[in-house]
Amino acid sequence: MLTFMKILHLFGLMLGAGGGLGSMMVGIQAKRAGGPPPPALLALRKNFALAALIGVLLLWATGLWMWLVDYGGAWLGTAFAVKIAAAVLILAILVAARIAMARTAPGSPPPAFIQRLGPVSGLLSYIAVALAVIVFT
Ligand code: HEM
Repeated sequence: MLTFMKILHLFGLMLGAGGGLGSMMVGIQAKRAGGPPPPALLALRKNFALAALIGVLLLWATGLWMWLVDYGGAWLGTAFAVKIAAAVLILAILVAARIAMARTAPGSPPPAFIQRLGPVSGLLSYIAVALAVIVFT
């Protein structure tokens, strides 16, 4: 079961990374458009944001499963605790972005604080991956 959950964990990582990177690139193109972004770009923005959220939720579901079932919820060290703290922040940023986007008029750019937090969540995911490899090698 650990192997299966770890495969799904890494699928979540792929989905989250793809969605995050896609969102960032769509954001850059939308800014370059100079006026209101074309509808196709806005549709992509939604798709990538959803992919990122589903990926991170999959990481959480499978990660919690592995930790609770396979490791008995044990203390796995400081690096693991920091990895989980990074995962909490990533999830919080994605949820905040979703709430903020639901409140803005369709087609308008994300609020400034979301634009600043996007790259932060990207950086946090690099940290989480590095720490995971350090902990479990
Ligand atoms: C942004 C969120 C996360 C990222 C990027 C991430 C990334 C990774 C990666 C790359 C591995 C494989 C490490 C290796 O085998 O060398 C891994 C393993 C693992 N992760 Fe996560 N993870 C995330 C969230 C979580 C959460 C929230 C939990 C638990 C609450 C968790 C628990 C685990 C566990 C227990 C393993 C070890 C599986 C094993 O025994 O090999 N992860 N994670």
